[in-house]
Amino acid sequence: MDVLRAACEATLRYGLKLRDHRRVGCHPCVLEWERAANSFFGCEAAVLLGSGYAGGAVMAAALGDDFDVAFVDEHSHANVWDGLAAAGVRVISFPHRDPGGLAAVLSMDLRARQRPLVVSDGIFPITGALAPVPDYEVVLQPYDGALLCLDDAHAYGVLGPDGRGTLDHFGLQGARRFSYGTMSKAVRWGWGAGPRLGGAAGPDRTPLRRVSIHHQGSSRHCRRGRPST
Ligand SMILES: Cc1ncc(COP(=O)(O)O)c(C=O)c1O
Repeated sequence: MDVLRAACEATLRYGLKLRDHRRVGCHPCVLEWERAANSFFGCEAAVLLGSGYAGGAVMAAALGDDFDVAFVDEHSHANVWDGLAAAGVRVISFPHRDPGGLAAVLSMDLRARQRPLVVSDGIFPITGALAPVPDYEVVLQPYDGALLCLDDAHAYGVLGPDGRGTLDHFGLQGARRFSYGTMSKAVRWGWGAGPRLGGAAGPDRTPLRRVSIHHQGSSRHCRRGRPST
């Protein structure tokens, strides 16, 4: 009821025009949401997307220059595979929730000086199983420039202090750790979002700039005009 009332009030205040795209003027509601999410997650910047599903594609495009091969838990959500496929990157699966299996494919499929991106759901939707992220961190230690990205659709609002997700649950924020999620699960606002890029430790801003560029060509997504500090 509260949500319906707020929706009616917002419609009266802002009207029905969408204006969710930066080229045609971003709606103040979007900026307000991004500011609130940014402060909630304590991250460098939060970006609102048209859906949680879009998170995989946006993340793959944003991080694309920072890794050479993506290693994906075999049970990861479809948006992860679709997003990486759309970005045209090399993708290799590793056995479900298996740090040893990840270590094996990394040593087999990564050439010298190549940088891996490891992608997994934080919480897997069907089973509710949690990704063994600290163990992945240990496996990734020898790999310079290794990135880790979690689809936290089922962890935002559930895991970690105040529901900030899997990285916070494990205390693993940092420059090379990324996550995105949705507001269609625990936060029942009925629409999606890919709110979080980067960790509390203040990551390198380059991926965020790429998200911005990526969004200029898409009418489904919205971005920050410039990264927040
Ligand atoms: C793990 C996971 N990631 C992403 C999504 C996509 O979220 P949305 O349906 O809000 O776009 C879902 C939806 O079921 C999901 O289960």
